[in-house]
Parts: sequence; C-alpha cells; structure tokens
Amino acid sequence: MIRKVKGTRDILPPESRLWNEVERTAHDILGGFGYSEIRLPLMEPTELFVRSVGEGTDIVSKEMYTFPDRKGRSLTLRPEGTASVARAYIENGLGQRPQPLRLSYFGPMFRYEKMQRGRYRQFSQIGIEILGTAAPAADVEVITALHTFLAALGFDDLVIVLNNLGDPEDRERFIEVLKSELTPHKEELCGDCQRRWNENPLRILDCKVPRCGELVAETTPVAEVVSDDAKAHVDEVEQALAELEIPVKRAPRLVRGLDYYLRTVFEVISPELGANTVICGGGRYDRLISDLGGKAVPGVGFAIGEDRLIEVLPESFKERVFDQRLVTVLPIGGEAMGRVARLARDLVLAGVAVHTEVTGRSLKACLKWSGKMAASVAVILGEQELAEGVAVVRDLNRGEQETVKLDEVVATVIDVLAKPKDSETERT
Ligand code: HAM
Repeated sequence: MIRKVKGTRDILPPESRLWNEVERTAHDILGGFGYSEIRLPLMEPTELFVRSVGEGTDIVSKEMYTFPDRKGRSLTLRPEGTASVARAYIENGLGQRPQPLRLSYFGPMFRYEKMQRGRYRQFSQIGIEILGTAAPAADVEVITALHTFLAALGFDDLVIVLNNLGDPEDRERFIEVLKSELTPHKEELCGDCQRRWNENPLRILDCKVPRCGELVAETTPVAEVVSDDAKAHVDEVEQALAELEIPVKRAPRLVRGLDYYLRTVFEVISPELGANTVICGGGRYDRLISDLGGKAVPGVGFAIGEDRLIEVLPESFKERVFDQRLVTVLPIGGEAMGRVARLARDLVLAGVAVHTEVTGRSLKACLKWSGKMAASVAVILGEQELAEGVAVVRDLNRGEQETVKLDEVVATVIDVLAKPKDSETERT
C-alpha cells in the first residue's frame, strides 16, 4: 500500500466542509476590507526565501523543501506567502496600481518540521498583506480585519499579543544589550542558543528550554530600546485597537521566526491548543521589497494557520456548517433516468442539497440508505408515480408523506425542509 507523505494530510468530507466555509467567510470578510486574492506559485527560486525570511532562521536553515530542477536550478516549495507577494509586487509592477495595494492569499505552505498536533509539513495559510504605506492605520486595519474574521467564525477567547521590534538599527542596538546582559550566563544557555548567539541572537528569546527562558526573562525587553519614532508608531496602533475594544496584550519578549519584520509584530494564541500554539502571525516589513531589489515599499500583514484554526473552531460554527439538510431522490425501478436527473437538477438549482440514488435499489433499501445519509426528506419516484406525473415527498423526520405533481416537488420539498427541527419526532 502506498501511504501519504509524512506530515501531509487527507482532509475528508465532512471536515472539508469546515475548510470551505472558513475560506468562504475569509473571502467575505477580508474581501469586505478590500483585500483581493492573489494566486501565487507553490514553488519559487530558493534565493527568494534566503533573502527575505533570512539565512539564519529555522525556516531557511533547516525546514525548506529545496531541490534542483532538471536544469539544476535550486527551487523551494514555499514555506510562507509574504516573500512571494513581495516578489510578485516587484515583478508585475504592482506599484503602478493605486496604492496602498491590498492582497489576500490562500493555500498550502511547506516546512520540514517535527510533527506534532497542529504542526504539519504541508499546511495551509490564509493571509493578507497591505503594501505601499507605512502608516500605523494600516497595522490597525490589518489587525481589525483579523479580529473581525475570527469573530465571524464565533471565536471569543483568542488572545492577540503584540510587540514592538523597532527598526533594524534599533535591533542591532538591542542585540548588543541582550548579549551584554546574557554574557555572564552564556555557558548556561542550551547548545542551540550557543549557536544562535552568533547566527541569529534574537531567536534566543523564544527558546523553549526552561533555563534559557529564565535567563531571557531577566533581560531588557526590545521595546525599551527602540527609537522614538518606532515607539510612537506601535503606541498609536495599540491605542486605536483599544478604542475599537479589540483586546491586545503586550508581549515584551515576542520575536517572530522570520527576519523581515520591524516595528509592529503580533500573534494570535489559542488557549485551547496551549500557550505555545500560534494560530496566526504577522507584522510590518517596510524593508522587504527594497531588500529584494524593488523600491522602498512598506508593508504589513498576517497569515493564519488554517489547519490550527480548524482544530479549535467554536462548536457553534461547526453546528452551523453540519446542519445542512439533505434530500434523497429515489427512483424505484423503471428507466426514467432523464426525468429523475432533471428533478435532482431542479432541486439543486433551488438551493437544496441532493443525493440521488443511482444504483437501482429497492424502496426499502433506498429508505435505509436515506436514513444512513441522515437525509431529512426523500423524493420517491416509482414507476406508477412517474406514469401519473407525480412523486411522493416523504418527511423522514416525521414519517409523513404526500403525493404531489412533478412540477410541485421542488416547492413541497422546500416547505418540508423549512419546518422547525425541534418538533422532530423519531426518525422513520
Ligand atoms: P508564520 O508565523 O511563520 O508567519 O506562520 C503563520 C502561521 O502559519 C502560524 O501562526 C501557524 O498558525 C501556521 N503554521 C506555521 N507553520 C506551521 C506548521 N508546520 N503546521 C501548521 N501550521 C503552521 C508567516 O508565515 C508570515 N508570512 C506571516 C505574515 C504575513 N507576516 C506578514 N504577513
């Protein structure tokens, strides 16, 4: 037997309905805020991620799916979307369009990570980016869109944490402060952090080894080292979000796993999946496009991990999605395939979810199958009914049925489906 690649998943029905509905809601809400979808390639030149996400990051140094193509060019399955958005912005001259430009993206990303709950090697993101403005109002908009989307899914317990990384110059200063404060304890840091010391010292801040965490807790937070401009920027963002009553908590040690960020960075944490499980990450990246050879175009955005989001979806959302009422269309004997198919089509066009029995089972077997499918209504088309131009519409919840003319079936089915569910009697 051939099995799926480790870290990939089959998303089966009915769970796939949750994915569809989450994505539909994202298109509605994020689209409502003005974000239009950009569809990006799944593979990019490796150099794109090396130069944007950063050589010293875990993503680039050990998690990328990188391979030579048949001509020996190094390609990488995208580990994230922001770098591709930046590349596409430069390559397609998107700076010519009215600015700022608002883009959204959906789809799989690839990282060779250690498998655990909520961590996969192929996972999906829902992201937005606003490009072409350094205004704090853009950070506010992005976080508001995120909060509105999560609220539309029914979340009310997610925590948004935020920090100020300052500008790259501030960061240099911060790293000096951090190193000087940690120098007396350097030997106590774990092996990974010893390596990070030279390669990417900011990563020491989110080491999961307890002793490293204790030592880091004693150091000066990055937000205390940043310039007045950077401080004013993030303070303004925070203030506006407070006015909107969007709950945001300062996380003074929050750093992100990608090098392009500056000033505002944020994450959404799910209490349900544990404090370390991040549902969404984002922030500002004003130097990314110029670092990739474009003009100085600032940007800010986020990406939600859709797999993780689906794992913690509120029950209310799931109930709504799974509440869909099903109608079975049951031809019994006879050769009236065309008329049966037409009736099924008319029901579908009227917005009804249909399953048509196509295998020629007996009436008894058909009703049993309808029960297994948890259908609410069955439309029975026996030979005699078809000869008379009628059909039987059976309310499977109440065990009642009526015979109606073929051209009244759709309206009758809709009436039956509209009956309240709470008065449901035993299934028949
Ligand atoms: P990121 O924090 O690397 O940011 O990823 C965003 C989200 O993707 C994470 O918060 C998490 O929910 C999900 N995720 C990451 N790795 C995995 C995995 N192995 N399995 C399941 N889910 C995962 C970015 O990718 C940035 N491009 C976000 C951004 C957009 N910043 C600005 N704009």
